[in-house]
Amino acid sequence: MSTDILQSNDESHVSRACETYSLTTTQFHALHSRSSAAKATAYCPYSLFRVGCSILTEDGQHIDGANVENASYPVGTCAERVAFGKAVTEGHKKFKAVAVATDISPPASPCGMCRQFIREFCELPTPVFMFDKDGAFVVMKLEQLLPLSFGPEALPPRGELPAKA
Ligand code: THU
Repeated sequence: MSTDILQSNDESHVSRACETYSLTTTQFHALHSRSSAAKATAYCPYSLFRVGCSILTEDGQHIDGANVENASYPVGTCAERVAFGKAVTEGHKKFKAVAVATDISPPASPCGMCRQFIREFCELPTPVFMFDKDGAFVVMKLEQLLPLSFGPEALPPRGELPAKA
């Protein structure tokens, strides 16, 4: 990732990002601390690459997740998909921001599969914060990370599904 867009965690950069994305600094710091703390829950014995994710819901709750690997390597799941799977199955439908934290600098960005997974549940202007090991960050809107994206509204409308017994 280019370092030109890397922002330090000093308060002037933090408050500018918060203004741009209509977040409070408390929400920003929670996104940072929770995504960083979630790294400790990663199961990554093969890559040793810890990823933590924290999602801020529209009503101010945080749902966290981390990557979960598997001896059959492609079966492993990224932190973002673990966190969104938790959030959605816990009934959350609207999201305000996403944060991803890794132990590297400059920070890692969500993989292509995760960008598409996030696209299912978040509006295109939703900010995705990418934190490095020291709390410096890059922030981009989902639509910048996944331009010309394909989403649920592209599919033809479906009739009401029959009620399940
Ligand atoms: N990983 C994530 O959790 N999120 C991403 O967006 C990129 C990669 C994980 C998958 C795997 O467990 C490890 O990082 C190394 O690829």
